Amino acid sequence: MNKQGELFGISALVVPVQSTDRVARSGTFVDNLKLPIHRWFKYSAGFSAEWAEKVIRTQQPKTVLDPFAGSGTTLLAAEAAGALSFGYESHPFMARVASAKLLWHIDTKELIKASKEFLGAVKKKTTYDLDNTPPLLLKCYTVEALQQLFLFRETYLKLKDTLKPEVAQLIWLAITAILRPCSFAGTAQWQYILPNKRKANTRMPVPAFEAKILDFVSDMLAFQKLDCRHDAKILLQDARTIPDSIPKGSIELVLTSPPYPNNYDYADATRLEMTFWGEIQSWGDLQGTVRQYIIRSSSQHATAEKLKLEDLLKNSAISSIHEELSLVCNELALVRQTKGGKKAYHTMIAAYFNDLAATFQALRSVCKRGANLCFVIGDSAPYGVYVPVEEWLGKLAISSGFTSYTFEKLRDRNIKWKNRKHRVPLHEGRLWIRG
Ligand SMILES: C[S@@+](CC[C@H](N)C(=O)[O-])C[C@H]1O[C@@H](n2cnc3c(N)ncnc32)[C@H](O)[C@@H]1O
Repeated sequence: MNKQGELFGISALVVPVQSTDRVARSGTFVDNLKLPIHRWFKYSAGFSAEWAEKVIRTQQPKTVLDPFAGSGTTLLAAEAAGALSFGYESHPFMARVASAKLLWHIDTKELIKASKEFLGAVKKKTTYDLDNTPPLLLKCYTVEALQQLFLFRETYLKLKDTLKPEVAQLIWLAITAILRPCSFAGTAQWQYILPNKRKANTRMPVPAFEAKILDFVSDMLAFQKLDCRHDAKILLQDARTIPDSIPKGSIELVLTSPPYPNNYDYADATRLEMTFWGEIQSWGDLQGTVRQYIIRSSSQHATAEKLKLEDLLKNSAISSIHEELSLVCNELALVRQTKGGKKAYHTMIAAYFNDLAATFQALRSVCKRGANLCFVIGDSAPYGVYVPVEEWLGKLAISSGFTSYTFEKLRDRNIKWKNRKHRVPLHEGRLWIRG
């Protein structure tokens, strides 16, 4: 079958949907890369969709919320398990990715037809002027691949208003999802792009796009055969604030993985994609376009906001952990003076717990009395100073009005010492909060 023909023969290519009664591991996002729909965009999800679906099926809540929805794992799991679900995501680019994935229920014939027309229009031109191209893109692609990708972008922007909005969103996601496979640049863990590293296999945009649409269609057909709901809603909402669109006291289950206070920069994680779409010109634009809206979990964020430790420690919302938090932050302020990079971990950690305190207060307002909350979380040790994350989050939850918490450890981290900056043993697990 030729490549164009494959787009017509899609119905024969339905991938099996993983059985939900398979022993669901808590897992990681790596597991999700084998699952229909979940595999459409590679992201650091924090847990496996199968586990999320199993929890929802077991607890049978009427309403589920993921206040840090990312690429939408919890929402897709809730749709499969039959619960009404909401997700907040304040990273605008990721909110768009998750919203597009939730369109799995639309008519696949329309997507196939539009994709073919789109590719036909792309192929009418062969060159694209690369003047004024952001340096990151020049470092990540061959000239041929970059010209083709820019023709994709130009054609998409020209055609999108003539397409049904849902179809346009899926074509946008397909283009977005092929950007990494078409780049020869390596990546660090998850999506940080490393222009100076090379990876072995690179794809060209046209076949990569065709294959991606093929994946979309086969996954959509597979999901559409199941009795799933399709009413999950992604809100471009900051988890630290209370939304207008969710009735107070209505959420029965919260299933989430917040950013960890480990210096991972969610803004930088989509730098390549946002640069390609012209949403940023360089790394410096990430603060204004993304970072300012998200939890302060990276030192770049703390530095950009010029945070003052004494101001952060004054907040009454963190009074239940004030003493321990002050000790750790003051120690970090001292250790910092001995380090070349002088990273602002002292204010990052203080800001992080301020932000999570605000999150628990906002959750208290939307959660029903007696609700269950599960935070998949890991502890942290910036500059080797230990931060007992789950314990402090548990205390913040209690001081926000929840009644109890327990921690279920899942795995150890940082125990293989190799290439590590410190030797503090860390772990990851589920913080269960009730009340
Ligand atoms: C560990 S990821 C969650 C991934 C998710 N479980 C998934 O399925 O992809 C944490 C997410 O929280 C988002 N985030 C950070 N601060 C936020 C805030 N204040 N409100 C809402 N979302 C936020 C980040 O952009 C990131 O996508």
